[in-house]
Amino acid sequence: MAPNGERKTVVVFRELPADQLARLQQAHEVIVADPRRDAQAFRAALPAAHGLIGSSLRIDAAMLDSAPRLEVISSISVGVDNYPLAELQRRSILLCHTPGVLDETVADTVFVLLMATSRRVVELSNLVRQGNWTKNIGEELFGFDVHGKTLGLLGFGRIGQAIARRAALGFGMPVLYHARRPVDLAVQAPELQGRAVRAELDELLARSDFVVAMLPLSDATRGMVDAGMFARMKPGAVFINGGRGATVREADLLAALDSGSLRAAGLDVFETEPLPMDSALRLHPRVTPLPHIGSATHETRHAMAELATTNLLQALAGERPAATFDTAAP
Ligand code: DGY
Repeated sequence: MAPNGERKTVVVFRELPADQLARLQQAHEVIVADPRRDAQAFRAALPAAHGLIGSSLRIDAAMLDSAPRLEVISSISVGVDNYPLAELQRRSILLCHTPGVLDETVADTVFVLLMATSRRVVELSNLVRQGNWTKNIGEELFGFDVHGKTLGLLGFGRIGQAIARRAALGFGMPVLYHARRPVDLAVQAPELQGRAVRAELDELLARSDFVVAMLPLSDATRGMVDAGMFARMKPGAVFINGGRGATVREADLLAALDSGSLRAAGLDVFETEPLPMDSALRLHPRVTPLPHIGSATHETRHAMAELATTNLLQALAGERPAATFDTAAP
């Protein structure tokens, strides 16, 4: 509820768990309008909206024009690349997101991809399912070790650090990271001191057996992982993307796979999602594709919805939620 007891209007544009919907309904008028199901109902709800909550919807300036009362957008995601940051800043609309609650789950997903690509899990499981396990497998189907190999992380925020913990502490992997902002390991991740080392980009690419991209999408990172980077990776490296698809030039990734310079790729994110049927990445024999499931567990998706609901309630009450994204300095 607003400080003066006023009930405001909230538009829920993606499914919310029932308990979180009930929290919103207790304090405000709630319109559930998912534009994937009914674009007209969503458009019709915008003029009254003081708050929006949801995920996976590209919000543009025209939508904001239709929502003159909007005070806050609460995204059920940590990534904010679906939102027009400068427009939100200009209109003084708060943007909240869900950092922190998904770190461990996304790190698990990245490890699924490391293991699946190296041990050929999907391919060999399919061999059994298709009735082709007729003799002991030979060398041509052997995988490669993960433990003890060098992991290079592009991006070293909370999720990158959770991946580094798994790698260094669980799998005995030396970890290199490349990050825009310096990370004070003594404060942020003391358990990684002496185990994760900051490296220049070229050194990281040349030394890493696994290059893992955990980059947010911004003007600075769009298309950053390109042919030049693939060429500087260690021959036979594995590339994993758990950040945002558009940080990678997919045509260059395919060329690196086809030339054999990259051994495999594990991808949870793509330039276009859902992945188009005609994408060469979909059936590529050395690609393990996932349908953007980084944070998709029951526990974590609920925690994200809960945090997003709290953010929205706080913002509509005139407070500044701790998980407000700084639209002025992305
Ligand atoms: C996020 O929160 O941005 C993730 O990509 C969702 O899985």
